[in-house]
Amino acid sequence: MKRIVVFTGAGVSADSGISTFRDADGLWANYRIEDVCTPEALRRDRATVIEFYNMRRRESLTKKPNAGHLAIAAMEEWADVQVITQNVDNLHEQAGSKRVLHLHGELMKLRSESNPNLIYDINDGWEQSLDAKAEDGSLLRPYIVFFGESVPMFEPACQIVSEADILIVVGTSLAVYPAASLVYYVRDRQVPIYLVDPGNPDTAMIRNPLTHIKERGAVGLPQLIEQLKNEFA
Ligand code: APR
Repeated sequence: MKRIVVFTGAGVSADSGISTFRDADGLWANYRIEDVCTPEALRRDRATVIEFYNMRRRESLTKKPNAGHLAIAAMEEWADVQVITQNVDNLHEQAGSKRVLHLHGELMKLRSESNPNLIYDINDGWEQSLDAKAEDGSLLRPYIVFFGESVPMFEPACQIVSEADILIVVGTSLAVYPAASLVYYVRDRQVPIYLVDPGNPDTAMIRNPLTHIKERGAVGLPQLIEQLKNEFA
């Protein structure tokens, strides 16, 4: 079985109606990262940060996987598939993907402010109250990797990429590190990389055979995956 690693960014969820970050209508056009997505922001203005993620969570509860997420999940019928996502939504899981690694955290989880390993699922609703506490007595915060924080899942993600026979990259500007550097951890220069993105992610440093399918995820992914299935299933 071919080992296929799918590395996704906000663009894979754009066709489900979730805003990306850096497109013209993206989230970072309306919010400043330093107000809502840094440890300093959480210390300075906790209410604004928690409200920002409450809004993201509330919005995500109304969204459904699109044809791109579904095509990735269906690939498990004939390939050994691992998804690595920068996204904090759970649309890959909703689509049926069994192995999903979240590099930047998950909206439907909270963690203790002082112990990153004390993690809780949010089982109903969207609202984190400001004074909710973890078992260790610390306040809870969104289970999100903020800018300036380390990315604990990066090393396991590198290991997964290094075992790929094929790497599919979808809907990411490749502008945020270390996540973007994952594309350099492929085993050797022969591993083919497919990019599905209607825009122009930063691929200047990629030396592997690269095929850029300049389509939306919901269109380009089913096409690409059908082609790979004909070749390798
Ligand atoms: N289908 C596929 N790709 C799309 C679509 C679509 N319908 N619409 C837009 N895109 C592409 C854009 O062309 C762009 O390359 O999705 C990409 C989105 O890029 P970003 O907004 O930068 O999102 P991402 O790369 O996931 O951001 C990385 O930045 O702020 C953080 O932590 C956040 O995980 C996120 C990280």
